[in-house]
This record gives sequence, C-alpha cells and structure tokens, in this order.
Amino acid sequence: MEVFEQLESRIRGYCRTWPAVFDRAKGARQIDENGKEYIDFFAGAGVLNFGHNDDRMKAALLRYLESDGVTHSLDMATTAKRTFLQTFHDVVLKPRGLDYRMQFTGPTGSNAVEAALKLARKVTGRRTVVAFTNGFHGMTLGSLACTGNAKYRDAAGVPLEHVVRAPFDGYLGEDVDTLEELRRMLADPSSGVAPPAAFVVETIQAEGGVNVARTAWLKGLAELAKAHGALLIVDDIQVGVGRTGSYFSFDGTGIEPDIVCLAKGIGGYGLPLAVCLVKPEHDQWSPGEHTGTFRGQDLAFVAGTVALSYFADDALCDAVKRKGAKTHGRLDALVESLGRPEVDLRGRGMIHGLDLGSGAWATAATKAAFERQLIISPCGPSGRVMKVIAPLNIPDADLDAGLDRLCEAVQATKGAA
Ligand SMILES: Cc1ncc(COP(=O)(O)O)c(C=O)c1O
Repeated sequence: MEVFEQLESRIRGYCRTWPAVFDRAKGARQIDENGKEYIDFFAGAGVLNFGHNDDRMKAALLRYLESDGVTHSLDMATTAKRTFLQTFHDVVLKPRGLDYRMQFTGPTGSNAVEAALKLARKVTGRRTVVAFTNGFHGMTLGSLACTGNAKYRDAAGVPLEHVVRAPFDGYLGEDVDTLEELRRMLADPSSGVAPPAAFVVETIQAEGGVNVARTAWLKGLAELAKAHGALLIVDDIQVGVGRTGSYFSFDGTGIEPDIVCLAKGIGGYGLPLAVCLVKPEHDQWSPGEHTGTFRGQDLAFVAGTVALSYFADDALCDAVKRKGAKTHGRLDALVESLGRPEVDLRGRGMIHGLDLGSGAWATAATKAAFERQLIISPCGPSGRVMKVIAPLNIPDADLDAGLDRLCEAVQATKGAA
C-alpha cells in the first residue's frame, strides 16, 4: 500500500474502505495479490452488471484487438459503433416502440448529465432545472449543481446555480405527495419559481440511499413536466441496463422521458461509455456542439454489443427478479431479527439499501464485511445505508454466501450504532 500512499493523491476513497491490492477478478469475485477472494456486492458502483471479465465479452474484445479493429475514433463512424447502434435499436428501442437518437458523450455519467442539461436549456431557452433531495448526478459543475450531497457540493469552490431543489418521493413521509408544492408554485406566476428547462430525476436514488420513487409519483412528474413545457430527464446511469429486472428502470411505468442518461453498465465489461437517448424533436444540437475526445469507445461498443445480447430474451431479467426477491427476503429477515425500529429496507430488482439509521454502524458493518471477504459500500445521508448491488449474473452460491457475510457483519457491529 505504501506506493499508493506515497505517490497517489489524498483523494483516494474506495481503497481506504477496502484496503487490499486487487490483482484479478472473475464473475462476482475480486482476488487480491495474496490470492484472497472477495465476493463483490458493489460491482464497480453499478458498472459491472455482467460481472468481472465475462467470457463472451472477453472473446469478442480479443477478436477485435487481434483484427486491429479501430480503438479510438472520437465520433467518427466505425463498424463497431454501427453494430452497437443497430443492436441497441433492435434489442432495446424497437421492442418498446421507443424513438430516441443516441448521443455518445464523454464516457462518464457526469458528462452525459452535463449534455442532457445543456440540451434541455438549449431546447427550451430556459435556465432553471428542478432536481431532487438526495439526488446524485455527478461531480462536474452542471451535474454537481443537481447533486444533493453537501460534501461534494462544498468541494465545487464556486456557486452551484440554476437548480431548484424539490423533495423526492417519500422525503416528507409516505403519505405526502411531494409534487403538490411544485404543482402549486409552477401554476402561480408570482411564486418566484421560473418555468424550468427540465426535471432531472433518478427513478431509484442509488447513491442517495436507495430511495425508490413510486410509479404514480413518476407519472405525476412526467405530467407536470409536460404541462409546463419542461423536459423530463431520467438519469438511469446506476439503475438502468437491467439492474431493476428490466432494461430501463422506468419500463412499465408508462413514462417516456425526453432524455435518458445511461453510462456505467452500458459498456458491458467495465469499459467507459456514456450516452444520452434524446427524443428526435429535441435533437437540436449543431454538429460538435458538445464535443469531447473520448466519445464512444470502440472497445466499449464491442463489449457493449455482447452485453445487449443478454437482453435479447428474458433469461437475465427473470434471474434478476428471482435473485432480487431472494436478497429482499434474506435482508427482511435480518431487519426483523435486529428489532431496531430505525432500520429500514428498500429496493427493487437487484438494488437494495439496508438503512441502518446510523453512519457509524454502517461504517463498522462495511469494515466487518470486508474482514469476512465481502465488498460492499455504504451510501445515503451520513453513509448510513448499506447498498447491495451485486453483478446481475452473480451465481446463487456467491449471492447466498455474500448475504450470510453481510448479515453476520451487521449483527456483529450492532453496538456501533
Ligand atoms: C445516478 C448517477 N448519475 C450520475 C453519476 C455520475 O457518473 P460518473 O461517476 O461516471 O461521472 C452516477 C455515479 O455514481 C450516478 O449513480
């Protein structure tokens, strides 16, 4: 570890949480340089939906490299990109009757959000964007302005402007329709709230503590956006690409966002790729207006095309629903056995948040889990929520063993609360 301590910036985060030097990884396991194997309940913060080093993706990548396929191409037309575009259309868009143009941005989620915000402002000619309490949309200034977490916001060094914050679904208690206040203010020309360019929302706030928006709330939000000529931007960066048991997290809700931001899992193999899906009528960019050197990585297109093939039938999504239900059942039993009223369980598909109600407890449980060779990270306000986001294709034996370790770690650290 000394090399990292001496030569790498103090900014290091995750390597402090999990103090091991990792060497190899396969499926849902990471292996450190001493050969110790860890079960991965973090999956690269939602990047590794298909696990580490998926064999089919690896074979496709090796074939592509062997044939001297183009590796870097800015936004030039390449065969790898064409295949990805066509496959995305055939596998994801067409069966849903969705019509989107695909804008590849810089490869981070933050850059996809930046592009979506710029486009919404350009299309509407408005500045203000509505974002929600506990939302997480990225670290660059525009996306950071939409992120709620004070630690990240305070690091901006400049004012974060042109964002109005509204309470997310459930923020004021289960029985409160948090959209009502917005509805009234937007209807009142003297409320002081200008008509927004967009609403930017996660259907499940992942970093924010696994807060799940109800379908009725999402529908109400879509209606409100429409009524006020604002665009609906769904940030599906962490909970898209199969995480909820369907390709998009908003499948089945009846909403059709104006812009969808995808990143993380879309490159399949952990290779960086980000995209905005834009309704054709909003695709009002002039060529190169939101540019960037690394837009659309060919290796990510190659692996990402294989990743899309996992959605050609229902096998993966059915497995996500089954394993998600199992996870929920195990964690629900843990909550019961803890007998602490402040502990709460939330989630859908294969994303779950075990809210321990105490950052100190979650920190201790994370450490205890790591000692039991389980990689899991806390999230949410004060880091009090243990977030379970295993690879979607985690074998049942690893899922069961990981859940055993998590339950033990939480039980063993009860005193830290
Ligand atoms: C919902 C959501 N949006 C945006 C981002 C930012 O993505 P990136 O870290 O790739 O910039 C994240 C990252 O965790 C995220 O979860």
